[in-house]
Amino acid sequence: MMNTKKLMAFHSYKGGTGKTTCVVNLAALYASLGLKVCLIDFDIYAPSLTSYFGASPKYYIHDLLSGEAGIHDVIVDYSKKIKFDGELHIAFSSPAKEDIHSVKINYDNNFQLKALKQLLTIKRQLLEKEGYDYILVDTSPGIRYWSINALATADILFLMLKINNMDINGTKTMISEIYDSLTRYGLSTKLILNKVQGASPFNAYDQENFNEVQTEIENILDLPVFLSIPCFCDIQFNRDEFLWALNKPEHPFSMKLREIPSLLEEIK
Ligand SMILES: Nc1ncnc2c1ncn2[C@@H]1O[C@H](COP(=O)(O)OP(=O)(O)O)[C@@H](O)[C@H]1O
Ligand SMILES: [Mg+2]
Repeated sequence: MMNTKKLMAFHSYKGGTGKTTCVVNLAALYASLGLKVCLIDFDIYAPSLTSYFGASPKYYIHDLLSGEAGIHDVIVDYSKKIKFDGELHIAFSSPAKEDIHSVKINYDNNFQLKALKQLLTIKRQLLEKEGYDYILVDTSPGIRYWSINALATADILFLMLKINNMDINGTKTMISEIYDSLTRYGLSTKLILNKVQGASPFNAYDQENFNEVQTEIENILDLPVFLSIPCFCDIQFNRDEFLWALNKPEHPFSMKLREIPSLLEEIK
């Protein structure tokens, strides 16, 4: 049977929860498994993929939304630049101030509705006509117009948070204000706890204590935890963390990310 859970978006209440890190690495992992993947930078307000990939494409998501470019103008094929068994195609968001401003201020109702329809059309085109296996979408944190639009097209939402009361409370609000209504249209939300406790000068790592914390969060948010990823200083403080999951496959972070495809298979 065809797997219909094909558009996965990463979102969080706060920035710095690891959305970009996880979405890029998961996209690359799927491509390395032989699949055809489209990675879209929908963090319109603070894009980061141009910097991550050192890219300066001719067209951006902004040109697509304004009608100045088609989806094929925007998508860049990375399959030749990085060796994969499969394919990785990337649509970048423009980091230029005037581009960010131009999509930010366009709150005209007609434009909004058109943009959402356009996203749904592109989703269908890529998945049904062009043989993409997955579309992975990075978004801006918080309740932002473009993020909600991206989430409205998603089948799976990876909701990321750090274990911190501000994150937990904000996430709880977002669950009741956005996700719950999208769930009625078939969105499946998966909670990812990132940067969970490692050893600190004051506490040694304690799995049992962490299980307690995890259960507490599940109770507060009324969602099971899909995956917990520890905090690794070598990732946080490495200047070059490019495609870590591919380049350092034996690293525990990479092993954690490799659990995602199989976890999704199991619960399909
Ligand atoms: N599990 C982790 N352990 C340590 N550092 C991490 C981890 N996940 C992400 N990071 C680091 O945290 C920072 C923010 O991550 P990023 O993916 O940019 O977050 P977001 O896109 O949600 O703002 C980056 O420097 C990244 O390398
Ligand atoms: Mg980001």
